[in-house]
Amino acid sequence: MHSDLFDLTAEAEMGHIQLSRVADLIVVAPATADLMAKMAQGRADDLASTLLLATDTRVLVAPAMNVRMWDHPATQRNLAQLRADGVLVVGPNEGEMACGEYGPGRMAEPLEIVAAVQAALAEGPLAGRHVLVTSGPTHEPIDPVRYIANRSSGAQGTALAAALRDLGAKVTFVTGPASVPPPDGVTVVKVETARQMLAAVEAALPADAAVFAAAVADWRVANAAGQKMKKDGSGQAPALQFAENPDILATVSKRAEGPPQLVVGFAAETETVQAHATAKRLRKGCDWIVANDVSPETGIMGGAENAVTLITATGAEDWPRMGKDAVARRLAERIAAALG
Ligand code: CTP
Repeated sequence: MHSDLFDLTAEAEMGHIQLSRVADLIVVAPATADLMAKMAQGRADDLASTLLLATDTRVLVAPAMNVRMWDHPATQRNLAQLRADGVLVVGPNEGEMACGEYGPGRMAEPLEIVAAVQAALAEGPLAGRHVLVTSGPTHEPIDPVRYIANRSSGAQGTALAAALRDLGAKVTFVTGPASVPPPDGVTVVKVETARQMLAAVEAALPADAAVFAAAVADWRVANAAGQKMKKDGSGQAPALQFAENPDILATVSKRAEGPPQLVVGFAAETETVQAHATAKRLRKGCDWIVANDVSPETGIMGGAENAVTLITATGAEDWPRMGKDAVARRLAERIAAALG
């Protein structure tokens, strides 16, 4: 644990504890199944769990427990919750345990924990910055079991969140139902519909920068049914009516309290990409637009590669076709440079 934490422990023992920001990172090693459960639930019934609940410092846990405790669905649920809360995790390893059994659950080696601490404390150009990223598709219900969706996998937004995290940013990742898992070490907020995404984005602000990589449905079903729609035997198909969804990017770009310092949108186009995206940048009021051609023959939507044009107030730059990870790193570096 960080030495300040020992100071805090001593203070607490003396009866005058002040739980405020005490360190850049709190390391919990070993993190038992019980402590992970408490953290996942936000319990605060002893000093360690109270401190972990009452801090805004990042937390790294090194789980250590019996193999069946580790494999138990309850522990795996807690682990998923902790990751979604932005908790960093190192290990566990597979090996012999104190209880004499063999399997996953053995605490990471001290040198591995030190390496994880060093990685977490690495000073990047975005250290101390909060960046919001939206990602994935939205699902708009037709009835309780059917919805309208799109082909977005969430791969580009996920890669971008990871790249921003790697440059030291505190990332809030608001994601629709994507087919790729969210990255570690970011705060994940899962939503389904466009309106839920807007509410989650507004709750996550303020941010220094916001990047809108989500493929948000433009319309929702206005006459969505409360119960599963049934065929009535007449052969008549139901008539769906649509209502326009809020434009999250435009709402944030034009917010009265002031937008983030840098607002970046994406433009998914299937024709005259640059012209449409340039007009979109002005219409939505964002600083940059990352435009891409999502025509089926490009294989971009749902694929591993992307070919983008970065459109700013000063012009358009065509980037060569490259992996979505490489696009993400390049864009994250540009964002870091723009924030200064
Ligand atoms: N976007 C958003 N909220 C919406 C629709 C889009 O935040 N309701 C964001 C996307 O995340 C993306 C940008 O706006 O960053 C452009 O999305 P795109 O689907 O390309 O544009 P549309 O708004 O659908 O515009 P058009 O109908 O002209 O293609």
